[in-house]
Amino acid sequence: MKKICVVGTGYVGLITAACFADLGNRVIGLDINEKKIEGLKNGVMPIYEPGLKELVDRNMNAGRLSFTTSYTEALKDSQFVFIAVGTPSGVDGEADLRYVAAAARSVAQNMQGELIIINKSTVPVGTGDWVAGIVAEHQAEAIPFSVVSCPEFLREGAAIGDFMNPHRVILGSLDEEAADKVAQLHLPLRAPIVVTDLRTAEMIKYASNAFLATKISFINEIANICEDLGADVTEVAAGMGYDQRIGAQFLQAGIGYGGSCFPKDVKALAHMAEEKGRHPQLLHSVMEINDDRREMAVQRVKDMLEKESLEGITVGLLGLTFKPNTDDMRESPAVNIAQGLQAAGATVRAYDPIAMEEAAQMLPNVKMLPTPYQMAEGCDVLMVNTAWNEFRQLDLRQIRDTMKQPLLFDGRNIYDPEKMAALGFKYRGVGRGYNGRIEK
Ligand code: UDX
Ligand code: UDX
Repeated sequence: MKKICVVGTGYVGLITAACFADLGNRVIGLDINEKKIEGLKNGVMPIYEPGLKELVDRNMNAGRLSFTTSYTEALKDSQFVFIAVGTPSGVDGEADLRYVAAAARSVAQNMQGELIIINKSTVPVGTGDWVAGIVAEHQAEAIPFSVVSCPEFLREGAAIGDFMNPHRVILGSLDEEAADKVAQLHLPLRAPIVVTDLRTAEMIKYASNAFLATKISFINEIANICEDLGADVTEVAAGMGYDQRIGAQFLQAGIGYGGSCFPKDVKALAHMAEEKGRHPQLLHSVMEINDDRREMAVQRVKDMLEKESLEGITVGLLGLTFKPNTDDMRESPAVNIAQGLQAAGATVRAYDPIAMEEAAQMLPNVKMLPTPYQMAEGCDVLMVNTAWNEFRQLDLRQIRDTMKQPLLFDGRNIYDPEKMAALGFKYRGVGRGYNGRIEK
């Protein structure tokens, strides 16, 4: 049993803390947000993540997991401290490291014994060395420590599974003993462990996310061409995916990627390259294609209605989060799309299974309705933004009957075009032509 402290109990920190506790360690989660910690002590999860509450409850009851706002308490006997605070985008696209710096300072001021400091947050290449400098500078007396990079690869909505069954664990440190100790923590996961230097580990994280974002923008570009030529991008992706060199994952065309990682990580990587005088063309194209998806969505609604102005039109949004099984609204395409529709004159209403409260703060003029059926009533157009499973099972006949016009734009390709036509919808997906037929 190892003693671990996790600083930051957000999407990444809380999963990390709960999963390490479940592996039999004694874990204390620290956050500067008192309300969050108070909630966690009383079993209230600050985020929606499938399976998280059960995992936290189980490990708190077993005495392996606790929470605090006090660095002194958290570091009392910890051997490892994971830094998992947020690293949002700064003004120029660079990662804002102020929270990482604050955490490193507090760790330095409160550490009471030898410590391995592990960076989980996604930080620019070189940050590990910088953190080591901050810690050394702020210690009251010199206590030995090491900094190891261990980037997270947790998808929201599937984060517990991703933690427990990782494709790989990346560890960056030139201190072999420290890297070995962190590797030991991960041994029960039975995954390949790559040990490299700090900067290379930090780069692996950026390169991985940028590559996945590139796959998404690639298939979205192919979707556009499919629309022009009358081919079906879902079949194209399936056909491509059987080639193991390509792989089937992250080839779903749609309204583009959002969330707390891809947008900021691609931007931050481009920024790092530019600071060195490079022009990272591919990364810029990836971002541009992704931004265009949001405009494409608004334009498609106009095309379906054969109108440029949406005055007097009501559009209903099915789903608001950037992906299913999360309540996270960060960088969700739905936000820009709703704003774009409103700017064109439309009245926008929405339904999301989990995130309506949060979304209402970002979209004050969008009316949130408690069921998809109430939401669809009187709409001219419905649009799918998020592939929530419950949307696959809707009574679409009932929905069609209460709509003003039977127009449906499926931004995530969750429905079958033939079936939708048979139900009497004028349906458009993304990149879904068929044998030369082009759906306009
Ligand atoms: C994480 C990573 O850290 C980020 O680098 C990665 O790219 C995406 O995921 P995330 O867990 O999503 O961030 O962040 P968030 O949900 O905002 O949680 C961060 C937590 O850290 C918050 O609860 C915040 O209160 C806490 N925090 C912040 C501290 O405890 N101390 C600080 O100094 C700042
Ligand atoms: C991502 C990384 O996958 C994960 O390893 C970690 O680094 C955190 O960031 P996350 O943002 O939670 O995870 O979700 P992910 O499943 O990667 O999806 C990101 C976005 O891409 C979503 O908006 C999703 O809808 C979109 N996406 C994904 C597509 O548009 N098409 C796809 O084929 C896959």
